[in-house]
Amino acid sequence: MRNIYIHPKSLLILFAFILQTCLIVNSQFEPLANFWGVPKNKVPNLLIIEKNLILIDNKLQPLLDNSDFGGTYIDVIANKININTVDQSKVDEVKNSLQMKQFQNFLNFKFANNSLTQLNSTFNQIIRLAQKFSLTDNIISIEPEVNNVVIYLDVKADQNKEFIDSVNFFKPIINPLTKVANENIIFNSSTLIKKREIHPIVYGGSKLVTFSRTRSVACSAGFWMKKNGKDFILSAGHCISLIPPPAVFYLEELDNLHEIGPMDVFSIEQTDMGFIEKLDTSLVQLRQMIQNIDQESSELLSYFIAGNSKITSTGIHVCKSGHVTGISCGKVVSINAATSTVTGTKRGLFRVELKNVPGDSGSSVYRYNIFNPSQFVDAVGILISGSDTIGVVDPIHKAFDLGYTLVTI
Ligand SMILES: *[C@@H]1O[C@H](CO)[C@@H](O)[C@H](O)[C@H]1NC(C)=O
Ligand SMILES: *[C@@H]1O[C@H](CO)[C@@H](O)[C@H](O)[C@H]1NC(C)=O
Ligand SMILES: *[C@@H]1O[C@H](CO)[C@@H](O)[C@H](O)[C@H]1NC(C)=O
Repeated sequence: MRNIYIHPKSLLILFAFILQTCLIVNSQFEPLANFWGVPKNKVPNLLIIEKNLILIDNKLQPLLDNSDFGGTYIDVIANKININTVDQSKVDEVKNSLQMKQFQNFLNFKFANNSLTQLNSTFNQIIRLAQKFSLTDNIISIEPEVNNVVIYLDVKADQNKEFIDSVNFFKPIINPLTKVANENIIFNSSTLIKKREIHPIVYGGSKLVTFSRTRSVACSAGFWMKKNGKDFILSAGHCISLIPPPAVFYLEELDNLHEIGPMDVFSIEQTDMGFIEKLDTSLVQLRQMIQNIDQESSELLSYFIAGNSKITSTGIHVCKSGHVTGISCGKVVSINAATSTVTGTKRGLFRVELKNVPGDSGSSVYRYNIFNPSQFVDAVGILISGSDTIGVVDPIHKAFDLGYTLVTI
């Protein structure tokens, strides 16, 4: 696993952690149980069902001709894969194929109007139109569950009116996006702690702040990553868009600020990722862990990062840890989403249904690890945009492509 760095102290930490959490294992499932609407003890079994459906979906997708079918989406609770079918005459061929014969009971072919080829062509044309109108704060995604391209934008803003008039030609679904969850601009009121001998810890979801002379910005910590022997915290690149360099980041904990280091490396064009370097002089410690308050129960939950997960199916669960809204789970709605801004169009994003507000930018997005779901999770990416329950995720694989490795247990 070339993208993974195993920390030597891991086993010791793990042992202590298992002892400590033996009694509260069940509450570790609380955020996902809430999303699925099931009792906590049903979660492990549903995760196995989900894993199985993902495996089948991965075998199924290459069998579907994109001009006859309009994408698939998993329904974990129903234990089915829904298949948008434009040409009904192709159903039997897929059902009776060598690869699908034994999985027929999991397949649900549904009548649909739009093939994936059509949707993809519409998607690309809408992105071009968004660029032409210099649209900002928008999400454009192919969503199998509604078998259409869905656009999220401020429908009331005057500057979007012309775009909406033009884009209606493609008959997309247009949904309102109230305010894109950018960085949270806060007042400078905290105390800067420089010399005191304490070692505060950065977890996935911790509050990170940076300042200019006139403003402070707060974002969330994503994941601990390494490159060339140096330690970094992955967060959203746009967190420093209002801050002149060097944007030095601090961990804010109980109103105290602990220096981490600068976000020198960032990208806001193709990706929205920023890497905060932990300086040798910094007293903070990084952990390959998510720790935060469960949004519903207000319980403090902790998980170890065991690996990473590449999202290939819609309908499956994801969870996030952000400093404002804590831990919550939801589902992947699109594996083919984009946002168009004046600095460029970011593609290869996921549209997720996850509660988020300003300040949650950079949140760790993860999935429960199938082998030990009560303690381990797999990194998926970071939250970069959205509002309310509409979220956009930049996949962690883009950070791997930039040469960073994920630190895991
Ligand atoms: C397909 O399109 C027709 C005509 O526009 C519409 O009546 C029907 O509801 C659509 N079906 C689906 C499944 O979207
Ligand atoms: C969608 O369009 C893009 C850009 O033209 C292309 O690279 C991709 O292969 C297309 N995907 C499908 C499923 O048609
Ligand atoms: C708050 O702002 C003042 C200047 O307005 C600055 O000197 C001080 O360092 C800031 N506080 C922190 C914690 O950075």
